[in-house]
Amino acid sequence: MGLRSAARSRHRASAALDLLPRMSGMATGRPARVSASGQRRDPELEAGTSAHYEDPAYYAKTYARRKDDVRYYVDLAVASAGPVLEYGCGNGRITLPVARAGVQITGVDLSAPMLGDLRAQLGREPRGVSSRVSLRRGDMRALRLGRRFPLVICPFNAFLHLYTRVDVERFLARAREHLTPKGELVFDVSMPEPAELARDPDRAYATPRFRYPTKDGPGEFVRYTERFDYDKVRQILFVSMEFSPVDGGERWMTPLAHRQFYPQELEALLHYNGFELTELRSDFSAEPPDNQTSMLLYHCRPRRSARARRPGHDGSR
Ligand SMILES: C[S@@+](CC[C@H](N)C(=O)[O-])C[C@H]1O[C@@H](n2cnc3c(N)ncnc32)[C@H](O)[C@@H]1O
Repeated sequence: MGLRSAARSRHRASAALDLLPRMSGMATGRPARVSASGQRRDPELEAGTSAHYEDPAYYAKTYARRKDDVRYYVDLAVASAGPVLEYGCGNGRITLPVARAGVQITGVDLSAPMLGDLRAQLGREPRGVSSRVSLRRGDMRALRLGRRFPLVICPFNAFLHLYTRVDVERFLARAREHLTPKGELVFDVSMPEPAELARDPDRAYATPRFRYPTKDGPGEFVRYTERFDYDKVRQILFVSMEFSPVDGGERWMTPLAHRQFYPQELEALLHYNGFELTELRSDFSAEPPDNQTSMLLYHCRPRRSARARRPGHDGSR
């Protein structure tokens, strides 16, 4: 084991041992298992996919000021006239405004707490709005709904929970199956930032203390720090979000794992999985991406007569 990877393992192990994640059923330290789909299960990735979504009140408060993407997806949904399929709908930051704008939407998500929160919110909406939403708990790599949509969306980095080529292939196959022939798949992902990925995994980045939000309003004051640990080989950024109550209460840690997709790599994955990229935007503006872009927005369509193609054998340059 090289020096850097030894340091990384130590960091992850210590983060997991002396700061326990505040989440139910987290799989830490268990050996990898094989899932029903035949893929090896990785407890670190499973925790990095679910922990951040165990506390919907914290999630909603943390991202409450993120509005550009909500406006963008609502406009898109209205223009499509629906129905819309949203992968990784979470607790409805986008689902609910789409339904309020008069469009039918089906939300799919893995997280029971996020879907539970969305169901509770729907219970407080007028019937006309709540009846436009249907929810399914499931894996966007596997779930088959048996119907097609003119618009399939996968907002706010849900795509970054696809960690391997096989994950991406399974997801894109499901998206294709759910799209009408002229339908569109739209998703957004953070752009990998070399300076951020190079951060020292042993350094804790602190932010000012704040009141930890609960569903009943602001809760206890906590100090918040983040550690970033990038696995260069798997291209996965592991983030440890660490919370220490100011009054000395028990500290806890929330892990998050995000695959990093480079733009050319993602374009190739779309191409070889039967999609054509129709538009690539930067940060929900109409601008094309440049070196300042922090987020990429993909619009793509199923390619007609798309078959798996070998590099260099598709007639394109
Ligand atoms: C960053 S949140 C986005 C939630 C919501 N779309 C928003 O914009 O606030 C990512 C969501 O993707 C869900 N997710 C992650 N992997 C998934 C999978 N394989 N299948 C379905 N949902 C998944 C998570 O549970 C989480 O709710």
